[in-house]
Amino acid sequence: MATDTPAESAQEGGPAATAPTEDAVRAALATVNDPEIHRPITDLGMVKSVGIAPDGAVDVGIYLTVSGCPMRDTITANVTEAVQGVAGVTRVSVELDVMSDEQRRELASSLKGGKAEREVPFAQPGSLTRVYCVASGKGGVGKSSVTVNLAAALAAEGQKVGVVDADIYGHSVPRMLGTDARPTQVEDMIMPPSAHGVKVISIGMFTPGNAPVVWRGPMLHRALQQFLADVYWGDLDVLLLDLPPGTGDIAISVAQLVPNAEILVVTTPQQAAAEVAERAGSIAVQTHQKIVGVIENMSGMPCPHCDEMVDVFGTGGGRQVAEGLTRTTGAEVPVLGGIPIDLRLREGGDEGKPVVLSDPDSPAGAALRDVAGKLAARQRGLSGMSLGLTPSNKF
Ligand SMILES: Nc1ncnc2c1ncn2[C@@H]1O[C@H](COP(=O)(O)OP(=O)(O)OP(=O)(O)O)[C@@H](O)[C@H]1O
Ligand SMILES: [Mg+2]
Repeated sequence: MATDTPAESAQEGGPAATAPTEDAVRAALATVNDPEIHRPITDLGMVKSVGIAPDGAVDVGIYLTVSGCPMRDTITANVTEAVQGVAGVTRVSVELDVMSDEQRRELASSLKGGKAEREVPFAQPGSLTRVYCVASGKGGVGKSSVTVNLAAALAAEGQKVGVVDADIYGHSVPRMLGTDARPTQVEDMIMPPSAHGVKVISIGMFTPGNAPVVWRGPMLHRALQQFLADVYWGDLDVLLLDLPPGTGDIAISVAQLVPNAEILVVTTPQQAAAEVAERAGSIAVQTHQKIVGVIENMSGMPCPHCDEMVDVFGTGGGRQVAEGLTRTTGAEVPVLGGIPIDLRLREGGDEGKPVVLSDPDSPAGAALRDVAGKLAARQRGLSGMSLGLTPSNKF
């Protein structure tokens, strides 16, 4: 741990007649590096005081970053040596103090170039925002469609809603919500565009021409961290995250970044899809996340000729997943609803107007609004608490 004490500034022949100036003492202190941070102690706010007596005796007050700092002796020795080298100094005494929490925070922030790493607001103990991860095991089961429709329906009911398109590979959410706006930056916050009253952010907004993004785990984690922490969401009632299919990195990242996020599992009635969905849902057991319920999508299609429902993708997948997850998690996982196959849902997605708004009374629109109503009925601000507090069994 080199301290850049200038060798040539050693005193020349006996005590000087005049006391040193404070500037000279501070200049000498600027040559002392913190042994661990390797930056001058003057830059780190570690110099508390400099007192100079007429006889050339110098008292230096030094803030240590933590009490019991293992480097205290080294710092004292280096400060003493540096100040002793100043012309006119007859004696040096160093008094140690400890930084306050506030000073430590300032130091941490200045070390990060003035940019303290922001915390994820939704993960704070006082957060009242309910965070739902929309997950499935298999691709193409309708996660993004369900996400945007639930978001739009909740916003239409007056809730403050945000959506994170965490499907970094797919990023279809902005299109489904009908926005191609780019986020704007204010200071170091990202302002999310808004569509149908829903604030939305997607990796697609940051890539030229919506080019597919091939990112590795740590970058995905960083992107998600930024989406959650650096985006100005304001005070949300609900935040929905559209996760990529499977049990990959993103699901784990979400669990780390927002441990109180709850899971909505989307499946189709198909046996195979149901099995995969159950596996994806059971990741929640490992991450100790709560599963709010299962949404069965493409559950039957109203016959265009009569009004009978046709089970295109089989039946019972949603119930099977819910029962399986109830067994694995040991907590009641309800089926929140079944969304029929409905051409208007796909068209709504393609046109950027969710079916819950364009055709709220269509079979899919009504079913999605019903699920949104159940989510809205869950009380705000009970995230992470037992579902026993919410009327889940009345769903
Ligand atoms: N209930 C439904 N009725 C008709 N079409 C639907 C329904 N649900 C989804 N679709 C259509 O199926 C396609 C896939 O849906 P979506 O993109 O929402 O699935 P996903 O699970 O997000 O897919 P991915 O895994 O690729 O992200 C879309 O074209 C969508 O419009
Ligand atoms: Mg999707």
